Amino acid sequence: MKIPVRLKVNGEIYDVVIAPYRTLVDVLREEIRLIGTKKGCDVGDCGACTVLLDGKPVNACLILAATVQDVEILTVEGLAANGKLHPLQEAFIKEGAVQCGFCVPGILMSLKALLDTNPTPTLEETKWAMAGNLCRCTGYTKMFKAVESATHRP
Ligand code: FES
Ligand code: FES
Repeated sequence: MKIPVRLKVNGEIYDVVIAPYRTLVDVLREEIRLIGTKKGCDVGDCGACTVLLDGKPVNACLILAATVQDVEILTVEGLAANGKLHPLQEAFIKEGAVQCGFCVPGILMSLKALLDTNPTPTLEETKWAMAGNLCRCTGYTKMFKAVESATHRP
């Protein structure tokens, strides 16, 4: 059985007809074709699938798409505005904080949620915000530097 589901993603409305058990990460990637959100573990461990629901970071692999019809969903594709990258994206590029890049969409979304509520986080606060996001390449140091750079913290 499939059901109609209406999702609001990055300010756009998407109507899809899906099985009720499908997760948000799968619907974003396979139905809406927003493939910036990555699927790593599919069990809530890696954070690669992080998106914002009404501004709060969640693991999209643990959310059924049919349950989030009334919330604003923000994915990495929605970070840039008016053709301009988000300051975090610019800082990640400037500081060389991206290697393979698989973790980066999820990390950017966790960090956006942080900066939206705390524009000048301490290093400890940044680490807490990223605690649910695993990166197997960078060792995180350049990512922390990029957050400093984005927030103009010395
Ligand atoms: S794919 Fe969702 S937490 Fe790993
Ligand atoms: S840059 Fe490769 S997993 Fe983070």
